[in-house]
Amino acid sequence: MRMSVIGCGYLGAVHAAAMASIGHDVIGIDVDEAKVAMLQRGEAPFFEPQLGELLRQGIDAGRLRFTSRMADAGGADVHFLAVGTPQVQGGHAADLRYVDAAVDALLPHLRPGDVLAGKSTVPVGTAAAIARRVDPTGATVVWNPEFLREGWAVHDTLTPDRIVVGVPDSADGATAADTIRTAYSSAIDAGTPFLVTDLATAELVKGAANAFLATKISFINAMAEIADAAGADVTLLADALGHDTRIGRRYLGSGIGFGGGCLPKDIRAFAARAEELGRGESVVFLREVDAINLRRRDRAVQLVIDALDGRVFGRRIAVLGAAFKPFSDDIRDSPALDVAVRLRGLGADVIVTDPAAIDNAAAVHPQLGYARDRDDALRDADAVVVVTEWDEYRRDLSPAHAGGLVRNRIIIDGRNCLDAAAWRAAGWNYRGMGRR
Ligand code: UGA
Repeated sequence: MRMSVIGCGYLGAVHAAAMASIGHDVIGIDVDEAKVAMLQRGEAPFFEPQLGELLRQGIDAGRLRFTSRMADAGGADVHFLAVGTPQVQGGHAADLRYVDAAVDALLPHLRPGDVLAGKSTVPVGTAAAIARRVDPTGATVVWNPEFLREGWAVHDTLTPDRIVVGVPDSADGATAADTIRTAYSSAIDAGTPFLVTDLATAELVKGAANAFLATKISFINAMAEIADAAGADVTLLADALGHDTRIGRRYLGSGIGFGGGCLPKDIRAFAARAEELGRGESVVFLREVDAINLRRRDRAVQLVIDALDGRVFGRRIAVLGAAFKPFSDDIRDSPALDVAVRLRGLGADVIVTDPAAIDNAAAVHPQLGYARDRDDALRDADAVVVVTEWDEYRRDLSPAHAGGLVRNRIIIDGRNCLDAAAWRAAGWNYRGMGRR
């Protein structure tokens, strides 16, 4: 099947490469010439395990190509729309300018029978509005939300938990659903559930999924606040809750909370859209989810201040992590970097290290100190803060080794990812988040 993928960011680049890897003919389109050139050379423009390999395979097989010319989308049977929908400046809603621009540019190249499949996360109602503009071309608009996680994007795209497609209630809608079923036939044949819904439900599935995940994380972080006050341990609490199969342990990871280019802005956009629909009260809890999440960063900073007896100015603090999560170089709304920036704001001499995200972090926050080598960051530190649970810190860093590098054995575990007993046994003043 011939496909175009419009927008080659974290979502589109992976989708294009994944579709080529299962045998489709794919053209990836992006307005960013530099990104297109990298992709065309088979280089991933961001850190994503397995993506480079998948790109090179697709390009070498002649099934994958990248361009900045929208006209090259002409002739594809399915056009996947994968542009970004960031938070609007000065508000909570989603900024749809890239979606609108992509649709405008694509319109002249659509033919009757083509399928325009939206993958971007959009406020409910967007697909219907796009469909009204696309209608005169004879193409059909469907919505096919994406659930991939950064760091696992290739895996999630090739073996998704489920495939959802929202289609219009018409004969063309049924035909378009069949087209999408064919596009994903390898995953569907392997047993992936395929759910066909109306347009609005498909749009809502994505927003609701991210809202649920964010709520689950903030729930356990709220419990961490209570655990701190009560002298309990939130990680044991999470283990015990997680054994209840109705609850499950995943997304009960407590600490400095969620960030990235999706959960924070998606819960805000979801609430903003609910308000427009007159149902703001239905999701008023999402404001609390957001507030709990942001309080975690304050809490981590306070733990550092307390551990240093209030004397932060001029102290050397090693910050382990900058990315919003491991296996990613993405620093968008990164709680890790936010903690580093706040400590720097208090006058600390902050040295940030990260296996993948230093270049991105330094471009946005040149005021912070950086060390590519973890041990250089630790050397002579008055306190250490773990804010991204990379294996390099969580698994590979021994308390004895770190103890030989730092000036003070103070460690704040912002991700509750370390073995508290082992660090304490090695003479460290260990402080977790919601752990006794
Ligand atoms: C999230 C969703 O998980 C994907 O399903 C969705 O497709 C994607 O957003 C999107 O909308 O595009 P992602 O942003 O890659 O994916 O990151 P997650 O792995 O979900 O983590 C989000 C944040 O939550 C990270 O900062 C992570 O550290 C934090 N987190 C996660 C916790 O604090 N605790 C947990 O237990 C799990």
